[in-house]
Amino acid sequence: MVTLFEPLALRGVTLKNRIVVSPMCQYSSVDGFATDWHLVHLGSRAVGGAGLIISEAAAVSPEGRISPDDLGIWKDEHLPMLQRINAFITDQGSVPGIQLAHAGRKASTYSSWRGEGYVPENEGGWVPVGPSAIEFAPNYGAPQALDAAGIQKVIADFRAAAARSLAAGFQVIELHAAHGYLLHEFLSPLSNHRTDEYGGSFENRIRLLLEVVAATREVWPEELPLIVRISVTDWTEGGWNGDESVQLSAMLKVRGVDLIDCSTGGNVPKAPIPVGPGYQVQFAERIKQETGILTGAVGLITTPAEAEAILANGQADVVLLAREFLREPYFPLFAARELGVEMSWPVQYERAKPREVAPAGQR
Ligand SMILES: Cc1cc2nc3c(=O)[nH]c(=O)nc-3n(C[C@H](O)[C@H](O)[C@H](O)COP(=O)(O)O)c2cc1C
Repeated sequence: MVTLFEPLALRGVTLKNRIVVSPMCQYSSVDGFATDWHLVHLGSRAVGGAGLIISEAAAVSPEGRISPDDLGIWKDEHLPMLQRINAFITDQGSVPGIQLAHAGRKASTYSSWRGEGYVPENEGGWVPVGPSAIEFAPNYGAPQALDAAGIQKVIADFRAAAARSLAAGFQVIELHAAHGYLLHEFLSPLSNHRTDEYGGSFENRIRLLLEVVAATREVWPEELPLIVRISVTDWTEGGWNGDESVQLSAMLKVRGVDLIDCSTGGNVPKAPIPVGPGYQVQFAERIKQETGILTGAVGLITTPAEAEAILANGQADVVLLAREFLREPYFPLFAARELGVEMSWPVQYERAKPREVAPAGQR
């Protein structure tokens, strides 16, 4: 039995396998609009057989973009192209998901191949917001600390983006509460020095995320799954940590969240992260074991055998691959072959499907 290709039911949505395209910014949008690049990029992974494809961090507001080139879902005009992409993904038997995000104090930065650090306002940048006026790194702008009205706007923006995600045909939402972006910044004492009800104690630091989850669930139908991506640890003394992540995950489980996508880091520049094959799997395993919620493992999972072992050992319920999917958009098709599983190929490609070589007399 190969666990990687067992379907997974999440509420009313069934993934045909447990291989997930991890969200990956493409920095190929203007004013938040998806383009032909997104259609081909995401569409290729659907042709390649992924069970779930999570579109890159989509900003819930213009000021929530990491860079001016980010995907967005803050206005209805964004929807037609997203609908087209999602129709294609769905036609291929994959499930379209979206990562809803606010970049917080790490907003208004250059996209990776255009520069480094903060984009000044005279070049199309903006003043980022965060829990406290503490900059991420010296080449980032100091954020403006959100006031009470600003926090309410963030919650309302996530709610509206969730409603638009439904209209766009997405079947899964992942809330981005990892990698040092706004929701993670509130969780971590390193970036959150607030003295109101959104800072200080654990209960106060998680409040914004719980309120965003509740607002999302208000408009996101009961039969559709909700995922939260967290950075399980800041890898830094005095930062957000694994124990808090376990406690938070248990609370999310009873608040309508179906799966925790377990990443790490991103809130501290140059944190000592022991990067290596499957280095974050341990966190997905711990949260799954200690809370009973479904988890996703991500981070340097690159071979079918590694992916299968993680699931077969009960360390996670899905695997998310990012860079390997950029190298090999058809990863699931080839993983099936390598693991000896029969998987249907798109009919258009059927003639190229690898088969056992027939004995000479039968060719
Ligand atoms: C080009 C690129 C863009 C990324 N953009 C996002 C993103 O939008 N949201 C997110 O949560 N993670 C993002 N990530 C992180 C990946 O989703 C993933 O967690 C990380 O790359 C580790 O997985 P991997 O070793 O399989 O690449 C990005 C990674 C890459 C390589």
